Amino acid sequence: MAKIAIMGFGTVGSGVLEVCRRNAAAIARRAGEPVEVKYILDVRDFSDSPDAALFVKDLDIILADPEVKAVVETIGGTRFAYPYVRRCLESGRSVCTSNKEMVATYGAELLALAREHGAAFLFEASVGGGTPIITPMHQCLAANHISRIEGIVNGTTNFMLTKMKREGMSFDEALRLAQKLGYAETKDPGDDVDGRDACRKIAILASLACGHHVYPDNIPTRGIRELTSLDVKAAESLECVIKLIAWYREEANGGLSAGVEPMLVPDTNQLAGVDDVFNAILVKGDMLGDVVFYGKGAGKLPTASAVVADVIDALKEGAAVHDSLFWQPAEKLDHMLEDKKPCSWCV
Ligand code: HSE
Repeated sequence: MAKIAIMGFGTVGSGVLEVCRRNAAAIARRAGEPVEVKYILDVRDFSDSPDAALFVKDLDIILADPEVKAVVETIGGTRFAYPYVRRCLESGRSVCTSNKEMVATYGAELLALAREHGAAFLFEASVGGGTPIITPMHQCLAANHISRIEGIVNGTTNFMLTKMKREGMSFDEALRLAQKLGYAETKDPGDDVDGRDACRKIAILASLACGHHVYPDNIPTRGIRELTSLDVKAAESLECVIKLIAWYREEANGGLSAGVEPMLVPDTNQLAGVDDVFNAILVKGDMLGDVVFYGKGAGKLPTASAVVADVIDALKEGAAVHDSLFWQPAEKLDHMLEDKKPCSWCV
């Protein structure tokens, strides 16, 4: 029996517990042994929960238990998640996370720390929610040189743009609906609508593709906040749709560039038909050619299923997974100036 702990019992964290229980037999078959959640770390009061006995408020309790082999981090942000993840890795526990902010900011450092301590640091759910992209990139595409990545990596803004186009909603109406359905944060939807979430995700994919840490601060980023129903209608008259596109490419001179911006996507382009909270990411490998990863980019159980798949890999492979999943620290450059074009073209 493999015991694990979950840090942060929000939407994704509670999804991890549900996935572990609902698919226990399949998970046990693939992990080679049953996987049981022994602790849940969360500072909130869960004394009324049927799982109250699992809750702890102190990371030391988890780290003092030699039975715990892997830890799931679903706290989000970096303030608590980053130091906690460091402590877990330093103790030799593998960590599986959905936290794109932490991976985009500290990925190179945490990958190196995991290797140093014989642990795995895995983050499939940090990009694409439940849609596989990280593991296929470092495993199935390992023999390819990746020169281009582009696509829709933020489900919330794609949902809003779909509503603005199909139902003629204003930006504010679409945002209110996204908040009501739990896609966008009620307090500060800025990570999604201002493109920061998409920027972190393309930074992770770019780091994986080029082997050096690409910092989100270096990626020019513009979200969809300035878009109006008029822009959406104007795009329609050009037989296009507006999509928030995150991209990375290797230039002919060997330089690298990346960005996040709303783009005009011709109706004939495969990204034009990607609606609602779906994500679609095109990756160009020099041997394979183009491959597109398409699926639900957000949501409790889809995202949790990707975290649990990482737990299975971490339990089976440990640090060996980093033979192919690794990138080097790199210099942080000055922030590039934002391009203020209202909307560029995606071809
Ligand atoms: N806020 C993110 C999105 C959640 O809408 O895509 C999944 O990463």
